[in-house]
Amino acid sequence: MYHRGAALAATLNCLVVLGVGAANMYSFCDERTDGKTLHNLTTKDLDGGIKQLSDYDGVVTVVVNGFPRERERERERERERERERERLVLIHKWFTYQYKQMNALLQSINTTHYVGKITFVGFPCNQFAHQEPAANTTELLNGLYYVRPGNNYTPDQNFHLMNKTNVNGVNESSVYTYLKETCRLPTAAKFDPTESFWEPIRPFDVAWNFEKFVIDRHGRPLFRFLSSVEPFDILRILKHLVDNTGKLDKAALMGNQEISRSLLDIEEKYKSEY
Ligand SMILES: *[C@@H]1O[C@H](CO)[C@@H](O)[C@H](O)[C@H]1NC(C)=O
Ligand SMILES: *[C@@H]1O[C@H](CO)[C@@H](O)[C@H](O)[C@H]1NC(C)=O
Ligand SMILES: *[C@@H]1O[C@H](CO)[C@@H](O)[C@H](O)[C@H]1NC(C)=O
Ligand SMILES: *[C@@H]1O[C@H](CO)[C@@H](O)[C@H](O)[C@H]1NC(C)=O
Ligand SMILES: *[C@@H]1O[C@H](CO)[C@@H](O)[C@H](O)[C@H]1NC(C)=O
Repeated sequence: MYHRGAALAATLNCLVVLGVGAANMYSFCDERTDGKTLHNLTTKDLDGGIKQLSDYDGVVTVVVNGFPRERERERERERERERERERLVLIHKWFTYQYKQMNALLQSINTTHYVGKITFVGFPCNQFAHQEPAANTTELLNGLYYVRPGNNYTPDQNFHLMNKTNVNGVNESSVYTYLKETCRLPTAAKFDPTESFWEPIRPFDVAWNFEKFVIDRHGRPLFRFLSSVEPFDILRILKHLVDNTGKLDKAALMGNQEISRSLLDIEEKYKSEY
């Protein structure tokens, strides 16, 4: 009896080492009792039309917010603020390079097995340091093309941009209300009150641009990752979710070597951030 208990303790310890206890940069989403999934929701697409998120049935989806971009006339002022920010101790980075990484990831899996099975869904947002002031779709796409990240950047065909959205505060999108009530904010999140433009502030609010919610092919949110976690850091997890068509519960996810290893690697890579 004693030995069996010790073995169990060792197993649990091992699980803790492999992610659960070290979950600073990500959180496991809660299993919902009402069975509501992301696919039950709608949002506005880039042209202002209704987008049924059930379109992503069968697709592993990463929901990501915030697409920094400057209006021409605001660029110089913005650059000054950026320089000022760099002078201060940087809590937040701009993360704009992640646009390119999302494209690169989607292109790296452009094989018949994975193509169209993994999608990034982007919600442009102007609530953090007013990074996304685009007035309309043309401005938004031009901003991506010419300014940030620039160099004729065009989102990959499996990177779908939605309409500009509030992710926090009184007018937040129902998609984000749903995601935030299902997935807690990872503990290493840092809010910068001088750069956060919404109220009221709620406990699980999105802390910054480029937070990532990983949704399985059935529409169930599984993980929430902080902004610094890069698309390629979660690639093995995404592939695993494509390869395993069943409804994986938390225990099954934790028990999977590939996933625990990815989570452990993420904690290790970003441990200087908390
Ligand atoms: C969500 O959508 C599914 C499939 O259409 C439906 O069966 C279910 O009743 C919906 N659940 C909620 C909470 O809306
Ligand atoms: C969002 O939808 C509206 C229509 O409701 C449209 O005018 C606007 O251009 C769309 N795009 C953005 C980025 O706001
Ligand atoms: C993905 O592959 C298809 C078919 O091979 C090709 O037509 C398409 O251009 C590729 N897309 C990218 C972004 O490389
Ligand atoms: C988008 O906004 C820009 C600048 O505010 C304006 O010049 C342009 O006409 C607008 N385009 C549309 C389609 O509304
Ligand atoms: C929320 O939306 C309402 C209706 O569009 C608007 O009057 C109000 O100013 C908005 N509040 C904030 C804080 O954006």
